Amino acid sequence: MRRKLAAGNWKMNGVSASLDELKSLAGTHADPSVDVLICPPATIVQSAAQTVDNTPISIGGQDCHAESSGAHTGDISADMLRDAGATAVILGHSERREDHEESSEMVRAKARSAQASGLTAVICLGESLAQREAANTLDIIAGQLAASLPDNSTAENLVIAYEPIWAIGTGKVPTLAQIGEVHDFIRTRLERRFGAGVGRGVRILYGGSVKPDNAADIFRVPNVDGALVGGASLKASDFSPIIKALEESA
Ligand code: PGA
Repeated sequence: MRRKLAAGNWKMNGVSASLDELKSLAGTHADPSVDVLICPPATIVQSAAQTVDNTPISIGGQDCHAESSGAHTGDISADMLRDAGATAVILGHSERREDHEESSEMVRAKARSAQASGLTAVICLGESLAQREAANTLDIIAGQLAASLPDNSTAENLVIAYEPIWAIGTGKVPTLAQIGEVHDFIRTRLERRFGAGVGRGVRILYGGSVKPDNAADIFRVPNVDGALVGGASLKASDFSPIIKALEESA
């Protein structure tokens, strides 16, 4: 029912030369049975979109402002991302929540703007290690879900990424049971809030140290509809086997 999604988050990595990785990915995956999204830094969103034009690969941003234009030096709007060829934008990544003190309310305002511009909002949620150790994970996720998601979201313009902060870039991955517990919880909350149709249609990605050697196991967990991949999305030779593992799980 839900089409799987392999999403790459390049973070603050990538210059023009990195477009070769995209070309290579597009060459290897000319007809993927899953959706593939790459979110490069804003400086190369347009050239990345041109690089994958007429291929099944989509391009997204990593953040946007809540306003569509105005006096906000250094910021980028959803309209601008859309104009540059993006179809999606990551919002509320823990690095934005931490480095830029973004609250869930700010994330929701950005997501509203993204959806109004025709972008899919890939909204990130996740607990810190201290919160997990204090057995607060589900409370934290419930709070972030309630406050970060715009009302009237649809299965097309909303994707959730569950990314435990302690698993990002650390090589530490939750157990499959821990991943499953949170994904099932998110699914239930989505159905309760948006109704069964939308709630069952929204894709829930897992993110945090997804690599070629652990992807297949993670993709077997129910309600895991794909992955948001950081480090292992930078090289086509790493991301490609993750895409293949997702295709095999579909
Ligand atoms: P990682 O990052 O795959 O490098 O752990 C994931 C993310 O932050 O989206």
